[in-house]
Amino acid sequence: MSESSYLDWNNSIEILNKAFDANLFVIIIGPKGTGKTSLVRDFARSKGIKLESINFSLRTRESHLVGTKTLTDGNVSFEEGILIKSMREGTMLYLDEINSAEADVLLRLDEALDDRRQIALKESTGEVVKAKEGWFVVATINPLTHSGTKELPPQLLSRFPVRISMEYPPEDIELEIIKKYVSGDFESELIQGIKLANTLRQAAAVEELFYSPSLRETIAFGKLLDKGVSAKEAATIVFGNVYTQWGNIEHQKVKDIITSMFGN
Ligand SMILES: Nc1ncnc2c1ncn2[C@@H]1O[C@H](COP(=O)(O)OP(=O)(O)OP(=O)(O)O)[C@@H](O)[C@H]1O
Ligand SMILES: [Mg+2]
Repeated sequence: MSESSYLDWNNSIEILNKAFDANLFVIIIGPKGTGKTSLVRDFARSKGIKLESINFSLRTRESHLVGTKTLTDGNVSFEEGILIKSMREGTMLYLDEINSAEADVLLRLDEALDDRRQIALKESTGEVVKAKEGWFVVATINPLTHSGTKELPPQLLSRFPVRISMEYPPEDIELEIIKKYVSGDFESELIQGIKLANTLRQAAAVEELFYSPSLRETIAFGKLLDKGVSAKEAATIVFGNVYTQWGNIEHQKVKDIITSMFGN
């Protein structure tokens, strides 16, 4: 399935377009697997702009963003990081899961992302790099319940004044999305799978369960149906078995839900 089939169900592409035109940076907030990355990729493709991405983690260092000194044949040179390259070229910079990084790494972003859109390369020549016209930055953050995430420092958050909230789509929309990845005619089974996913999501939201399935799971469920797996078995494999991680009681709760929805 080609990635260009992103379904823009909550008008996010238009918001991105307006932000782009107004030279405002965007932050997308939402749980895993709600389409954040696919939205950004689709937008970059529709604009025909080059996309540079960095996925933040605790291991991300300032040097990844700004650059590092390298030594070749006795000569010290400076290899510029993704932030500087993107500013110089005026590409679109995608800062994925920005709230997984250490605060000191993020400090350097404050400078580049403020209204002057420039940064001093204090680690090499001290040159002030000014972003090329059209430079555009989009970041994502996962909600704070997501393990390993931290609150984004407010001054950094303020550099992304356009905020898009991504949630799991309504059932009819989720069905439409899944159908993009499934060729067989499994309408009623898919509807059941989505209902199951939503039951589990609601239970996880009130902390009755430890895990909330995403669109990745409902899509995988549909793909297994396509391969001839029965709905009950696909539901067990995709939605049920994962809960064994949290012990038998948790697993049994979900098994009972699956049986009540898909029969014995
Ligand atoms: N609106 C949509 N149209 C088409 N496909 C979608 C849509 N939303 C989500 N998907 C599909 O769902 C899956 C998960 O989406 P994606 O990776 O973009 O989510 P994400 O929010 O970036 O997740 P994470 O927070 O885990 O990185 C992908 O296969 C994606 O193509
Ligand atoms: Mg993503």
